[in-house]
Amino acid sequence: MNIIVTDSPEQAFSKAADMIACVVLHNPHPVLGLATGRTMERIYRLLVKQYETSALDFATTTSFNLDEYVGLAPTDPNSYRHYMQEHLFAHVNIPTSQIHVPNGIAADLDLECDRYEATIEKAGGIGLQLLGIGETGHIGFNEPPSAFNSRTRVVHLDDITRRQNSGMFGNDPTCVPAHALTMGVGTILEARKLLLVAVGTGKAAIVDKALNGPLNENVSATAIRLHPDCTVILDDAAASIWKNNSSNTINSMS
Ligand code: F6R
Repeated sequence: MNIIVTDSPEQAFSKAADMIACVVLHNPHPVLGLATGRTMERIYRLLVKQYETSALDFATTTSFNLDEYVGLAPTDPNSYRHYMQEHLFAHVNIPTSQIHVPNGIAADLDLECDRYEATIEKAGGIGLQLLGIGETGHIGFNEPPSAFNSRTRVVHLDDITRRQNSGMFGNDPTCVPAHALTMGVGTILEARKLLLVAVGTGKAAIVDKALNGPLNENVSATAIRLHPDCTVILDDAAASIWKNNSSNTINSMS
Protein backbone atom coordinates (compact mmCIF):
# COMPACT_ATOMS: atom_id res chain seq x y z
CA MET A 1 0.00 0.00 0.00
CA ASN A 2 1.23 3.45 -0.89
CA ILE A 3 0.41 6.01 1.81
CA ILE A 4 0.94 9.67 0.97
CA VAL A 5 0.71 12.33 3.65
CA THR A 6 0.36 15.94 2.56
CA ASP A 7 0.86 19.17 4.52
CA SER A 8 -2.61 20.46 3.70
CA PRO A 9 -6.04 19.21 2.57
CA GLU A 10 -5.61 21.18 -0.67
CA GLN A 11 -2.49 19.18 -1.53
CA ALA A 12 -4.32 15.93 -0.77
CA PHE A 13 -7.21 16.88 -3.07
CA SER A 14 -4.85 18.02 -5.80
CA LYS A 15 -2.81 14.79 -5.66
CA ALA A 16 -6.02 12.73 -5.80
CA ALA A 17 -7.41 14.72 -8.74
CA ASP A 18 -4.10 14.27 -10.60
CA MET A 19 -4.22 10.50 -10.06
CA ILE A 20 -7.77 10.32 -11.44
CA ALA A 21 -6.87 12.59 -14.37
CA CYS A 22 -3.90 10.37 -15.15
CA VAL A 23 -6.18 7.30 -15.44
CA VAL A 24 -8.57 9.24 -17.68
CA LEU A 25 -5.75 10.54 -19.88
CA HIS A 26 -3.87 7.27 -20.28
CA ASN A 27 -6.69 4.81 -20.94
CA PRO A 28 -8.67 4.66 -24.18
CA HIS A 29 -11.80 3.58 -22.23
CA PRO A 30 -11.35 4.52 -18.56
CA VAL A 31 -13.76 3.04 -16.02
CA LEU A 32 -13.93 5.09 -12.83
CA GLY A 33 -15.55 4.08 -9.56
CA LEU A 34 -16.77 7.28 -7.91
CA ALA A 35 -17.76 8.30 -4.38
CA THR A 36 -19.76 11.18 -2.93
CA GLY A 37 -19.48 13.19 0.30
CA ARG A 38 -17.70 16.32 1.44
CA THR A 39 -14.20 15.00 0.75
CA MET A 40 -14.99 14.33 -2.89
CA GLU A 41 -16.52 17.75 -3.61
CA ARG A 42 -13.14 19.46 -3.77
CA ILE A 43 -11.58 16.68 -5.82
CA TYR A 44 -14.38 16.97 -8.37
CA ARG A 45 -13.94 20.76 -8.45
CA LEU A 46 -10.30 20.25 -9.42
CA LEU A 47 -11.23 17.74 -12.13
CA VAL A 48 -13.74 20.21 -13.56
CA LYS A 49 -10.99 22.83 -13.57
CA GLN A 50 -8.63 20.47 -15.40
CA TYR A 51 -11.41 19.73 -17.92
CA GLU A 52 -11.95 23.45 -18.50
CA THR A 53 -8.31 24.45 -18.70
CA SER A 54 -6.43 21.46 -20.09
CA ALA A 55 -6.89 18.46 -22.32
CA LEU A 56 -8.77 16.33 -19.80
CA ASP A 57 -11.45 14.62 -21.85
CA PHE A 58 -14.15 12.37 -20.33
CA ALA A 59 -15.81 11.42 -23.65
CA THR A 60 -14.80 7.77 -23.40
CA THR A 61 -15.02 7.49 -19.59
CA THR A 62 -17.55 5.20 -17.96
CA SER A 63 -18.41 5.76 -14.29
CA PHE A 64 -19.95 3.68 -11.53
CA ASN A 65 -20.91 5.30 -8.24
CA LEU A 66 -20.49 3.37 -5.03
CA ASP A 67 -23.88 3.94 -3.50
CA GLU A 68 -27.31 5.57 -3.40
CA TYR A 69 -29.99 6.13 -0.77
CA VAL A 70 -33.03 3.88 -0.98
CA GLY A 71 -36.21 5.83 -1.71
CA LEU A 72 -34.59 8.90 -3.29
CA ALA A 73 -35.23 9.53 -6.99
CA PRO A 74 -32.24 10.54 -9.14
CA THR A 75 -33.69 14.06 -9.31
CA ASP A 76 -34.04 14.38 -5.53
CA PRO A 77 -31.58 17.09 -4.38
CA ASN A 78 -30.33 14.75 -1.63
CA SER A 79 -29.74 11.78 -3.92
CA TYR A 80 -26.21 10.82 -4.83
CA ARG A 81 -27.16 10.88 -8.52
CA HIS A 82 -28.07 14.54 -8.08
CA TYR A 83 -24.87 15.21 -6.08
CA MET A 84 -22.81 13.80 -8.95
CA GLN A 85 -24.66 15.91 -11.50
CA GLU A 86 -24.09 19.04 -9.45
CA HIS A 87 -20.43 18.44 -8.59
CA LEU A 88 -19.08 16.72 -11.72
CA PHE A 89 -21.27 15.38 -14.48
CA ALA A 90 -22.95 18.68 -15.47
CA HIS A 91 -19.53 20.32 -15.89
CA VAL A 92 -17.58 17.75 -17.95
CA ASN A 93 -18.20 15.88 -21.20
CA ILE A 94 -18.96 12.41 -19.83
CA PRO A 95 -21.91 11.05 -21.85
CA THR A 96 -25.01 10.38 -19.72
CA SER A 97 -25.26 6.88 -21.20
CA GLN A 98 -21.88 6.07 -19.63
CA ILE A 99 -22.88 7.20 -16.11
CA HIS A 100 -24.04 4.57 -13.63
CA VAL A 101 -25.46 5.16 -10.15
CA PRO A 102 -27.52 2.50 -8.34
CA ASN A 103 -31.23 3.23 -8.67
CA GLY A 104 -32.59 3.81 -5.16
CA ILE A 105 -36.20 3.73 -6.34
CA ALA A 106 -36.03 0.52 -8.38
CA ALA A 107 -39.16 -1.60 -7.92
CA ASP A 108 -37.00 -4.62 -7.07
CA LEU A 109 -33.90 -3.46 -5.19
CA ASP A 110 -32.23 -6.89 -5.09
CA LEU A 111 -32.61 -7.19 -8.83
CA GLU A 112 -31.18 -3.67 -9.20
CA CYS A 113 -28.10 -4.75 -7.21
CA ASP A 114 -27.60 -7.80 -9.46
CA ARG A 115 -28.07 -5.61 -12.54
CA TYR A 116 -25.46 -3.16 -11.21
CA GLU A 117 -22.90 -5.91 -10.66
CA ALA A 118 -23.57 -7.26 -14.17
CA THR A 119 -23.16 -3.78 -15.69
CA ILE A 120 -19.79 -3.33 -13.98
CA GLU A 121 -18.67 -6.70 -15.31
CA LYS A 122 -19.89 -5.87 -18.83
CA ALA A 123 -17.83 -2.65 -18.73
CA GLY A 124 -14.72 -4.77 -18.07
CA GLY A 125 -14.54 -4.00 -14.32
CA ILE A 126 -13.52 -0.80 -12.57
CA GLY A 127 -10.07 0.60 -13.33
CA LEU A 128 -9.75 3.10 -10.48
CA GLN A 129 -12.07 3.14 -7.47
CA LEU A 130 -12.16 6.38 -5.50
CA LEU A 131 -13.04 5.95 -1.81
CA GLY A 132 -13.71 8.11 1.23
CA ILE A 133 -13.98 6.74 4.75
CA GLY A 134 -16.91 7.22 7.10
CA GLU A 135 -16.86 7.56 10.88
CA THR A 136 -17.92 3.90 11.17
CA GLY A 137 -14.98 2.88 9.00
CA HIS A 138 -17.27 2.26 6.05
CA ILE A 139 -16.13 2.38 2.44
CA GLY A 140 -19.11 2.93 0.17
CA PHE A 141 -21.94 2.28 2.60
CA ASN A 142 -20.45 -0.96 3.92
CA GLU A 143 -21.46 -0.51 7.52
CA PRO A 144 -20.20 -2.77 10.30
CA PRO A 145 -20.25 -5.69 9.92
CA SER A 146 -19.71 -6.13 6.15
CA ALA A 147 -18.16 -9.32 4.84
CA PHE A 148 -15.02 -8.77 2.80
CA ASN A 149 -16.62 -10.80 0.00
CA SER A 150 -19.92 -8.85 0.10
CA ARG A 151 -21.45 -7.72 -3.20
CA THR A 152 -23.74 -4.85 -4.21
CA ARG A 153 -26.74 -5.04 -1.88
CA VAL A 154 -29.28 -3.20 0.24
CA VAL A 155 -27.85 -2.14 3.61
CA HIS A 156 -29.20 -0.57 6.77
CA LEU A 157 -27.34 2.65 7.55
CA ASP A 158 -25.69 2.93 10.94
CA ASP A 159 -27.03 5.68 13.23
CA ILE A 160 -23.52 7.18 13.26
CA THR A 161 -23.59 7.47 9.46
CA ARG A 162 -27.08 8.97 9.48
CA ARG A 163 -25.81 11.59 11.92
CA GLN A 164 -22.62 12.13 9.84
CA ASN A 165 -24.71 12.72 6.71
CA SER A 166 -27.52 14.73 8.29
CA GLY A 167 -26.17 18.09 7.05
CA MET A 168 -28.07 17.68 3.77
CA PHE A 169 -31.22 16.69 5.67
CA GLY A 170 -31.74 19.73 7.91
CA ASN A 171 -29.31 18.34 10.49
CA ASP A 172 -31.93 15.77 11.47
CA PRO A 173 -30.48 12.21 11.37
CA THR A 174 -33.99 10.74 11.35
CA CYS A 175 -34.58 12.42 7.97
CA VAL A 176 -31.60 10.57 6.43
CA PRO A 177 -32.88 7.44 4.67
CA ALA A 178 -32.35 4.35 6.82
CA HIS A 179 -31.35 2.16 3.86
CA ALA A 180 -29.02 2.42 0.88
CA LEU A 181 -27.70 0.41 -2.03
CA THR A 182 -23.94 -0.02 -1.96
CA MET A 183 -21.27 -1.85 -3.87
CA GLY A 184 -19.97 -4.57 -1.58
CA VAL A 185 -16.49 -4.75 -0.10
CA GLY A 186 -15.82 -7.66 -2.47
CA THR A 187 -17.02 -5.57 -5.43
CA ILE A 188 -14.71 -2.71 -4.39
CA LEU A 189 -11.71 -5.00 -3.95
CA GLU A 190 -12.11 -6.17 -7.56
CA ALA A 191 -11.25 -2.71 -8.91
CA ARG A 192 -7.78 -2.72 -10.44
CA LYS A 193 -6.66 0.29 -8.36
CA LEU A 194 -8.01 1.80 -5.13
CA LEU A 195 -7.57 5.41 -4.06
CA LEU A 196 -8.77 6.35 -0.57
CA VAL A 197 -8.70 10.01 0.47
CA ALA A 198 -9.26 11.39 3.98
CA VAL A 199 -8.58 14.82 5.47
CA GLY A 200 -9.06 16.50 8.84
CA THR A 201 -8.67 15.53 12.49
CA GLY A 202 -12.22 14.14 12.50
CA LYS A 203 -10.92 11.23 10.38
CA ALA A 204 -7.69 10.60 12.35
CA ALA A 205 -9.01 7.89 14.70
CA ILE A 206 -10.81 5.88 12.03
CA VAL A 207 -7.87 6.21 9.61
CA ASP A 208 -5.61 4.77 12.31
CA LYS A 209 -8.05 1.87 12.85
CA ALA A 210 -8.24 1.24 9.10
CA LEU A 211 -4.48 1.25 8.57
CA ASN A 212 -3.14 -0.07 11.89
CA GLY A 213 -6.00 -2.05 13.42
CA PRO A 214 -6.65 -5.75 12.90
CA LEU A 215 -8.27 -6.74 9.59
CA ASN A 216 -11.86 -6.65 10.68
CA GLU A 217 -15.26 -6.85 9.00
CA ASN A 218 -16.48 -4.34 11.60
CA VAL A 219 -14.19 -1.74 9.99
CA SER A 220 -14.71 -2.36 6.30
CA ALA A 221 -11.90 0.06 5.32
CA THR A 222 -9.35 -2.40 6.77
CA ALA A 223 -10.09 -4.52 3.67
CA ILE A 224 -8.20 -2.09 1.43
CA ARG A 225 -4.98 -3.53 2.91
CA LEU A 226 -5.75 -6.76 1.04
CA HIS A 227 -5.63 -4.96 -2.31
CA PRO A 228 -2.41 -5.22 -4.33
CA ASP A 229 -2.62 -1.67 -5.77
CA CYS A 230 -3.97 0.73 -3.17
CA THR A 231 -3.02 4.36 -2.57
CA VAL A 232 -4.13 6.28 0.51
CA ILE A 233 -3.85 10.07 0.48
CA LEU A 234 -4.12 11.82 3.85
CA ASP A 235 -3.46 15.31 5.04
CA ASP A 236 -1.33 15.72 8.16
CA ALA A 237 -4.39 16.01 10.41
CA ALA A 238 -6.04 12.78 9.19
CA ALA A 239 -2.68 10.99 9.45
CA SER A 240 -1.84 12.28 12.95
CA ILE A 241 -2.84 9.23 15.08
CA TRP A 242 -1.78 6.67 12.46
CA LYS A 243 1.67 8.31 12.19
CA ASN A 244 2.26 8.08 15.94
CA ASN A 245 1.25 4.42 16.04
CA SER A 246 2.88 3.31 12.84
CA SER A 247 6.23 1.91 11.87
CA ASN A 248 5.27 2.19 8.18
CA THR A 249 7.23 4.28 5.75
CA ILE A 250 5.41 7.52 4.99
CA ASN A 251 5.67 9.28 1.67
CA SER A 252 5.43 12.93 2.63
CA MET A 253 4.50 15.63 0.16
CA SER A 254 4.95 19.29 0.67
C1 F6R B 1 -20.27 8.03 -0.31
C2 F6R B 1 -19.31 7.11 0.26
C3 F6R B 1 -18.92 7.23 1.70
C4 F6R B 1 -18.13 8.52 1.97
C5 F6R B 1 -17.75 8.62 3.44
C6 F6R B 1 -16.99 9.89 3.76
O1 F6R B 1 -20.48 7.77 -1.68
O2 F6R B 1 -18.85 6.24 -0.41
O3 F6R B 1 -18.16 6.10 2.05
O4 F6R B 1 -16.98 8.54 1.17
O5 F6R B 1 -18.90 8.56 4.24
O6 F6R B 1 -17.82 10.99 3.58
P1 F6R B 1 -17.28 12.50 3.78
O7 F6R B 1 -16.32 12.74 2.71
O8 F6R B 1 -18.53 13.33 3.66
O9 F6R B 1 -16.68 12.54 5.14
